[in-house]
Amino acid sequence: TRTPVNVTVTGAAGQIGYALLFRIASGHLLGADVPVKLRLLEIPQGLKAAEGTAMELDDCAFPLLKGIDITDDPNVGFAGANVALLVGARPRTKGMERGDLLSANGGIFKPQGKAINDNAADDIKVLVVGNPANTNALIAQAAAPDVPAERFTAMTRLDHNRAISQLAAKTGAAVSDIKRLTIWGNHSATQYPDIFHAEIAGKNAAETVNDEAWLADTFIPTVAKRGAAIIEARGASSAASAANAAIDHVHTWVNGTAEGDWTSMGIPSDGSYGVPEGLISSFPVTTKDGRYEIVQGLDINEFSRARIDASVKELAEERDAVRGLGLI
Ligand code: NAI
Repeated sequence: TRTPVNVTVTGAAGQIGYALLFRIASGHLLGADVPVKLRLLEIPQGLKAAEGTAMELDDCAFPLLKGIDITDDPNVGFAGANVALLVGARPRTKGMERGDLLSANGGIFKPQGKAINDNAADDIKVLVVGNPANTNALIAQAAAPDVPAERFTAMTRLDHNRAISQLAAKTGAAVSDIKRLTIWGNHSATQYPDIFHAEIAGKNAAETVNDEAWLADTFIPTVAKRGAAIIEARGASSAASAANAAIDHVHTWVNGTAEGDWTSMGIPSDGSYGVPEGLISSFPVTTKDGRYEIVQGLDINEFSRARIDASVKELAEERDAVRGLGLI
């Protein structure tokens, strides 16, 4: 029998945590034959609710779930972790400036990065979900000098999945027929969902759509503002779809992309496509054997270049701000 994989989830008592933990425990994160041990990391105020969720996890009698620990100590929470899902973050509250938001999150992600550095397993893989996800990932990565930088990733898979869904609705295609879509840049309103290299049932998506006004005025803003539209409709933020995207991100990272397809992940740039090295930016990637590679050699047209550059500029500004605050 396989040794269980240790999966740490921060913010376990939150909305996304509640939608995420049951799917991890039922085998959707890593595979239907991979046993897991869960470690739930919360702040003291969240511990009781996390215990309630753990009771429900017990009550599911998941065959793959080999244990649940709950803690408010990052050193305990990340001890031996093979996969860490950093979901807990400080949301922007009314009147909060960007600097306040970045420093509040620095206070979370810097110590968590250090605790990962000091305690996690050698093969640790980190996904940051908590916003601002790319820059929080950068802060955690900078605090973990002994962990290879490429193990720190930020979630743009929800944007990727939203874009596939919008494109399927526009063209009448099945979501499973859409391949090679890319989210570039930051998980924010400046993100750029790119269909110029995407395919719909083997045909170029941009040529199939053949409507640049729809791209610029409908598709891109609909994908970028989908989070706000969900809040408006549901009265609460998107939690189940975010949890689903976190599952997809890690599952693809561990188990590989399909032949001929790729996915989108926020990863430390190696300088590809003019994105300054070290920024955690979303790229098209293929994955295999637990490693990812940026898809190289794509032609970037003017329409795409301007939008990628704008989102990357925002990431550089966030990096400069956290550098100014001494967080990296
Ligand atoms: P929530 O507010 O329901 O839950 C957050 C949980 O994190 C709370 O239980 C809180 O006690 C906990 N927490 C706060 N600080 C912590 C710390 N230092 N250590 C451990 N736990 C801590 O929020 P929700 O809806 O679950 O969202 C979580 C984050 O995910 C938010 O930052 C949200 O903006 C982000 N998000 C990111 C998406 C993406 O696509 N990257 C999509 C949707 C949400």
